[in-house]
Amino acid sequence: MIISMKRMLLILSSAILLFFLAGCGKPPKRTDAELGLNAQQARGRRVFQVYCSSCHHAYSSAASQGPSLKGLFKKRFLPSGLPANNRFVRDTILGGRGMMPGFGGVLTEKQFQDLIAYLHTL
Ligand code: HEC
Repeated sequence: MIISMKRMLLILSSAILLFFLAGCGKPPKRTDAELGLNAQQARGRRVFQVYCSSCHHAYSSAASQGPSLKGLFKKRFLPSGLPANNRFVRDTILGGRGMMPGFGGVLTEKQFQDLIAYLHTL
């Protein structure tokens, strides 16, 4: 009985250790400086974190509620198949698309410009 208690404790403590070694299951958050963001892009990152990150990953290709936005402007096409340029991304963000709500009445023009600047860094 006493030995099995010890064994239980050992298993439990290694499980806890593994949990922390794995960074609690979340990827490490990089700072704006580590990402090489300028002031506008860093402001755009804040906008993204507030309004977009619940549905989109920025640094992982995994889909969330919406498609991953990793490399958004580096690819020729958006997930929908439209050309990856400012015009179509603007239409999606302001007007919405499918299950995605539009942010036309939510974001100020400045927040939108900051956000676009940030999306270009992905
Ligand atoms: C409630 C979840 C949700 C939120 C919040 C959200 N999106 Fe989306 N987004 C989606 C879904 C779902 C799609 C796929 C839409 C489709 O093609 O049917 C999508 C698609 C997109 C696309 C790809 C459009 C295309 O043509 O393929 C872009 C770019 C995008 N979102 C950017 C953003 C940005 C920037 C924000 C923050 C301002 C945001 N989204 C907030 C759910 C969301």
